[in-house]
Amino acid sequence: MAESSNPLPLEIRTERLVLRSARAGDGAALREAIGVSLDDFYPWLSIAAQLGDLETMERVSRLAESSFEKGEFYVWRVWDRGGVMIGSVDLHSLDRAVPSCEIGYWLRSDWTGLGFAQEFVSAAIEVARNELGVERIEARCDVRNERAWRLVERLGFSFEGIVRHDERDAAGELCSNKVYALISADVERDRSKSA
Ligand SMILES: CC(C)(COP(=O)(O)OP(=O)(O)OC[C@H]1O[C@@H](n2cnc3c(N)ncnc32)[C@H](O)[C@@H]1OP(=O)(O)O)[C@@H](O)C(=O)NCCC(=O)NCCS
Repeated sequence: MAESSNPLPLEIRTERLVLRSARAGDGAALREAIGVSLDDFYPWLSIAAQLGDLETMERVSRLAESSFEKGEFYVWRVWDRGGVMIGSVDLHSLDRAVPSCEIGYWLRSDWTGLGFAQEFVSAAIEVARNELGVERIEARCDVRNERAWRLVERLGFSFEGIVRHDERDAAGELCSNKVYALISADVERDRSKSA
């Protein structure tokens, strides 16, 4: 893979996992991870409606690699130590003037309920705050997608409100999203609580 000119790490290690920037060659693992998770992803994730053949998933991977290199959209695929792709986390909608970004994530269905998403989403938040220097990280979760918003609540995000009918879900239905954000004050609050 070409050397990236942006400052974010291509690889992040956590206690049980390795986050690797999305890259060409990920297509087969990506297709398998999404394929086994369709019942959980649909209708929250647009990628569930876009699952395609190997060539399509390779194209998605090449595009993600190029966006990462350009510093436009950062996606890390998440691997267990045995080489299974178990999830994905991304930082997108970067506004370098604030600076702020939005976070997205998914975990392969057969790996839920074990704290893996919490582990890799936390790692991406650390990178966003410490290396990208963002003040605000936003998460938007469909009001019906309780597992998704429970996760950011556990990670200290504050609930800011509901935006109604601001987009269509993967089934084409209008949906409403809960907006959460983590700003420095939230992090300070949690630090002083645990001190
Ligand atoms: C949202 C999603 C990532 C949440 O996955 P998850 O496994 O529930 O999340 P976590 O990794 O935080 O795991 C939490 C669960 O693991 C349990 N757990 C076990 N060991 C744990 C540990 N060491 N640390 C933390 N939690 C642990 C928790 O008790 C909790 O269990 P519960 O669900 O019975 O309450 C997953 O459901 C998903 O990918 N959904 C579809 C995609 C999606 O909606 N993405 C978000 C779009 S906004």
